[in-house]
Amino acid sequence: MPKHFQAVKVSEHVYWVGAVDWVSRDFHGYSTPRGTTYNAFLIMADKVTLVDSVKAPFRDEFLTRVASVIDPSDIDLIVSNHSEMDHTGCLLDVADMVKPSRIVASPMGQKTIAAQFPGRPEVDVVKDGESLDLGNMALQFFETRMLHWPDSMFSYLAADRLLFSQDAFGMHYATCERFDDQLDPSVLNYEAGKYFANILMPYSPLITKLAQRLGELDLALDLVAPDHGPIWRKDIAGIVEKYVHWAQQKPTMKAVIPFDTMWGSTEKLSRSIAEGLHDGGACSRLLPLSGTDRATVATEILEAGALILGSPTINNQMFPRMADILAYLKGLKPRNLIGGVFGSYGWSGEAIGQLTTALSEMGIEVVTEPMAHKFVPDGDVLEQAREWGRGIAEEMARRVE
Ligand code: FEO
Repeated sequence: MPKHFQAVKVSEHVYWVGAVDWVSRDFHGYSTPRGTTYNAFLIMADKVTLVDSVKAPFRDEFLTRVASVIDPSDIDLIVSNHSEMDHTGCLLDVADMVKPSRIVASPMGQKTIAAQFPGRPEVDVVKDGESLDLGNMALQFFETRMLHWPDSMFSYLAADRLLFSQDAFGMHYATCERFDDQLDPSVLNYEAGKYFANILMPYSPLITKLAQRLGELDLALDLVAPDHGPIWRKDIAGIVEKYVHWAQQKPTMKAVIPFDTMWGSTEKLSRSIAEGLHDGGACSRLLPLSGTDRATVATEILEAGALILGSPTINNQMFPRMADILAYLKGLKPRNLIGGVFGSYGWSGEAIGQLTTALSEMGIEVVTEPMAHKFVPDGDVLEQAREWGRGIAEEMARRVE
């Protein structure tokens, strides 16, 4: 084995043996300008236990890190907390090499792995609350269904006061550093929020319940180790509080305005609308879709109070980039937003109706008539757009606690 990838000691019995993906800029449609990591962990108990593995192309990096601690064939048990392929892509290869005595997963994890690798490897089910005997310590499991897959579960190593939280509390951020206190908190806040918005937002009610359950369990925690990004050891309370806050999706005085433009008229409207929102006490995020990817739009929506859409009409349709964004946002199920629609058009202006319908289908209340204008807006129209924006801000203010 080459020696250039080393494990990192995380706690008395646990090593990080994951992989750093410096290159990825797209994670199934989620922009990752800072790359990502696939975290896996080795518990050096009497029964040496591997918690999760990595995306298939990173198998050798991962195995090299394992080999910097022990011979991989000495791994006795494998735990799969989450069976999305960035954590199980090389599970079959690893199982063939290691020949563990057992692989364990949640009931749904067993099914998912069986669907990925028909016939093998054999996976045993562990149930919610069950503990796995590692010889001189135990690993306890907690199902976290739909956070964010049906199979998802947490594992808790009481011996090291360490919670393996799979995707939860993670982020896409490739770094040399492995711990939160070694990194810029503002970047961690942004990337953790981006991860929440793009991966976990649809399951916000379940996150609220999970937070309640974690509070009741009252686990002693020195470390929270997710499957992506840094391990939390300094600000565990902070990231848990942020999850509780984000899951509530309380409306704020922030308006998110994704827009596209053909000859600049819809852009002119958007600028005047932003001025009006400001007059009414709201702040705006104008997001030109010519240069804003869908994951960034979702991130902005996380702590917003209004979603205001602007599009011209092309061939009787909204702009394709807007259609992309709306398909994406609909799946994320944002809550507690109010909506508005605007745009310039040449002759028929179907986009306006399409955007209104899209907002309604997302459960977003459209609180005012659309601000639609034929061709190029003049000063009077731009003043109307400003007033239109101010009206939305006033409506936002009525809904903010
Ligand atoms: Fe990191 Fe849901 O996989």
